[in-house]
Amino acid sequence: MIYPIVKFGDPVLEKVAAPVTKFDDELKKLVEDMFESMYAARGVGLAAPQIGISKHLAVIDITFKEDPDARLVLANPKIIHTEGKQTGSEGCLSIPEFREEVTRANKVTIRAQDINGKWYEKTGEELLARAFLHETDHLNGKLYISHISALKRDLMKRKIRKLAKAGQW
Ligand code: NI
Repeated sequence: MIYPIVKFGDPVLEKVAAPVTKFDDELKKLVEDMFESMYAARGVGLAAPQIGISKHLAVIDITFKEDPDARLVLANPKIIHTEGKQTGSEGCLSIPEFREEVTRANKVTIRAQDINGKWYEKTGEELLARAFLHETDHLNGKLYISHISALKRDLMKRKIRKLAKAGQW
């Protein structure tokens, strides 16, 4: 099932999500739907709050379907190590049509549970490191625009309010 993506302005995007506690068939179905919804929206990462489900759960595939082994399920992820810096253009499915330069760590290690509840650690660099940070932020109610200047953020919010008024958001 393809879920519609929740857009900026919906409070679900700005609250801390609840932990995943049950690793059952329902969760497996949800994860499948999240991958499907992410691909349909042409994204490489999706957090559960972005489909209106406030759970500490995200999916990532930075290869966009090319490598099945690149499909990652992050339940209850924690950032346990960061290193270096990268600056690059970042966007979010919940803030469509906007992109901004964001500086993030270049190498990031997460500790998370997989679809069966098994804990694992994984280190990513560059785009994967950025995805780990971006998606983990989502689960803590944080959007990438919290990492840009207040001036740019206000400008973006003003444009979004305009779009919303015109019924285009
Ligand atoms: Ni996002």
